[in-house]
Amino acid sequence: MHLFNYKGSELYAEGVRVRLLAEKYGTPLYVYSAGTLLAHLNAYKEAFDGFPNIICYALKANSNIAVLRLLGRHGSGADIVSGGELFRALKAGIPAKKIVYAGVGKTEEEIRYALGSGILMFNVESGEELREIDRVAGAIGKKAPIALRVNPDIDPETHPYIATGLRKHKFGIPIDDALQFYRLAASLKNIKIMGVHKHIGSQITKVGPYVDALKKTLLLVDRLKESGINIRYLDMGGGLGIPYDTETPPNPKELAGRILPLLKGRTNLTLIAEPGRSIAGNAGILVSKALYLKKTAEKEFLIVDAGMNDLLRPSLYGAYHRIVPAVKGRRKKSVQDVVGPICESGDFLAQDRELQRVHAGEYIAVMSAGAYGFSMGSNYNSRPRPAEVLVRGDRHFLIRKREEYEDLIEGERFIP
Ligand code: LLP
Repeated sequence: MHLFNYKGSELYAEGVRVRLLAEKYGTPLYVYSAGTLLAHLNAYKEAFDGFPNIICYALKANSNIAVLRLLGRHGSGADIVSGGELFRALKAGIPAKKIVYAGVGKTEEEIRYALGSGILMFNVESGEELREIDRVAGAIGKKAPIALRVNPDIDPETHPYIATGLRKHKFGIPIDDALQFYRLAASLKNIKIMGVHKHIGSQITKVGPYVDALKKTLLLVDRLKESGINIRYLDMGGGLGIPYDTETPPNPKELAGRILPLLKGRTNLTLIAEPGRSIAGNAGILVSKALYLKKTAEKEFLIVDAGMNDLLRPSLYGAYHRIVPAVKGRRKKSVQDVVGPICESGDFLAQDRELQRVHAGEYIAVMSAGAYGFSMGSNYNSRPRPAEVLVRGDRHFLIRKREEYEDLIEGERFIP
């Protein structure tokens, strides 16, 4: 669900007209809906209510500190993958004891920072990393809480760039070798085994791969128990897909309906989920202004003021994002490429899309841009990054100011 709807011909973000936001804050502009974010978080909380759980929102989807504070105040923990994300989560007030830390390349500084902060657990992705965490923990006189991220070799049936749970991927420890790595963990003085973690990919639209991966993981939990290793936290990862177009992914309730029965009787377990996209994706739009309509013999281009530096997903994954006008008019439709100002042919928001014609100066909204939108943005072509606004009911708040030219060179120095 989401709270971006037309009232009459005007697109609204909750109770606020999108066109007014564009006029007030300028474009390109990210607009998020607090009501949508919370509805999605609550859907998870309600779905898994029958079992001890922590919902650890995956920061990488959208890490604005206002978004994090909102989710944190409503009970969310955090799934992080860098020291920077830890910094953001803590700044936003998310309790360290609800933070899990994944990623194949944690540095010594990051490990120290996380140990010092008292996070719930590291999701460890290799034997080397396990030894490094043990060493760093020993050096500062701490015990490091860990889960091993296992790679269950299950195909999530999604875009190859965002699949992670197959043997060929860099992520996790092959599930068949996991027992041996848990034994290593148990032998290390400064390591405390807390759990097991898996995450097989993103934008997953079927329940099957989840269930298969979880079953494999639970078999491992049982084998570990036989070896005297007790698992308290079962981290099922994130990855639930959202409808960008015609996809019909399961909702958290449907997912829980298939997962919770598998956990029956496992009273000492706490379940962790790491949703990112399914919380933030449909809770945000990217608003952009039409600059020019350019027709060639081949094509019709709608040139807008947002580019691949603002929203990379179409260029990188060929991802589909619905595009709608901020104000619907009685205009002819035509087949258009919606492109940005970046000097690359790969800079497009949509290709060969049948859209209502808009005139220069009018606004469009790129839908489902709340996850992996701003967070994957850059300053490419020396473009200041857009502003971000959070809407709640009929109120709107600037949660990140638009960058200025001076921001572009902040930190740069001439040599003497
Ligand atoms: N947990 C781990 C360990 C992850 O690697 C990810 C995403 C998540 C949780 C959250 O997954 P989600 O619920 O959002 O699917 N940039 C890509 C998506 C990359 C996802 C990477 N890992 C995109 O725009 O589609």
